[in-house]
Amino acid sequence: MRDRGDRVARAAKDMLTRPLGRVLVIEDETRSLKPHLEGLGDTVDTWHRRSWGEDEGRPWPSDGPYDAATLRALPSKEAMRMALSAAAAALKPGAPIWVYGANDEGGRSLGAVMEGLFDDPRTVHTKHRSRVFEGTRPQTPPDKARLEDWVIARDGRVGFPGLFAKSGLDPATALLIRACPTPKPQSRVLDFACGLGIIAQALHARAPEAEYTLCDADALAVEAARRNMAGAEVILSDTWTRIQGRFNLIVSNPPIHEGKGESYTVLEQLILGAHAHLKQRGRLVLVTQKRIKVEPLLGRAFKAVERLAEDTRFDVWQASKPKAQPSS
Ligand SMILES: C[S@@+](CC[C@H](N)C(=O)[O-])C[C@H]1O[C@@H](n2cnc3c(N)ncnc32)[C@H](O)[C@@H]1O
Repeated sequence: MRDRGDRVARAAKDMLTRPLGRVLVIEDETRSLKPHLEGLGDTVDTWHRRSWGEDEGRPWPSDGPYDAATLRALPSKEAMRMALSAAAAALKPGAPIWVYGANDEGGRSLGAVMEGLFDDPRTVHTKHRSRVFEGTRPQTPPDKARLEDWVIARDGRVGFPGLFAKSGLDPATALLIRACPTPKPQSRVLDFACGLGIIAQALHARAPEAEYTLCDADALAVEAARRNMAGAEVILSDTWTRIQGRFNLIVSNPPIHEGKGESYTVLEQLILGAHAHLKQRGRLVLVTQKRIKVEPLLGRAFKAVERLAEDTRFDVWQASKPKAQPSS
């Protein structure tokens, strides 16, 4: 994954060889474009919606105006359109943008996503199994130039482009909600990797006296969850980075993807971190696809592990009574 990121960033840097002025660098997970551009004499601001460790994500970029921008392709087309609109709103008319991605993650179709938002989108570089498109900010600003223009209202909840299950209720999440024990009054509940907060919302409807904390690494998920769970504590946090204290119940439909590829890193961190963040007799309840061998992982950290529910595709697991610190 990291290799692919470095590879596409190299393709982008091939195109960034002259000073540009004030530049907005968007979604560069390698964090290598900023020093590269500063080395050319540019002033650089970055924007990424996901938090990477202590490096906080933000829902929308600073106002600008910028002389140029770069954008690393995102997995969702709608999230791309939103990021491109945010970039267009922050760029000066006539300013260039370079949009880049790997060939095996849809890099060839990036020009089509830019259509209508940037003038003359065209491939300007292909190398490192990646592709770089260039376009020009039109004279008129984009139609949807503010974050508020991108709010998705669905089933009485608020979402944004690029959020899980198109800001709706996923079948795995629905199974988890049905199987999850009702929190006790005054107990502390953590909805880990909350997305727009659907799980916490459902538990809150059943147990309004419990105390809810929600967390997610995506600043737009956090923005949505804050609107959907008014009064709850909603924390922008890459896994456990910003989570303090202990909980009686931790619930999660954890991510198993990083970009377009599969990754169990967050799932593993959830399980090992839950051990440290649960109170005595606390419980971790999570849902995963059946093919993911989660039971041995849970067994390494917890004394008691049981399957609470299943259907043809998903399992809901409950793990409780943490035992001794797992070895690594
Ligand atoms: C499968 S979705 C579940 C969302 C929501 N709980 C639901 O069921 O609708 C997983 C969520 O994990 C979040 N996520 C991904 N990586 C993360 C990380 N490192 N730390 C915290 N959350 C993360 C994503 O932003 C996404 O909202």
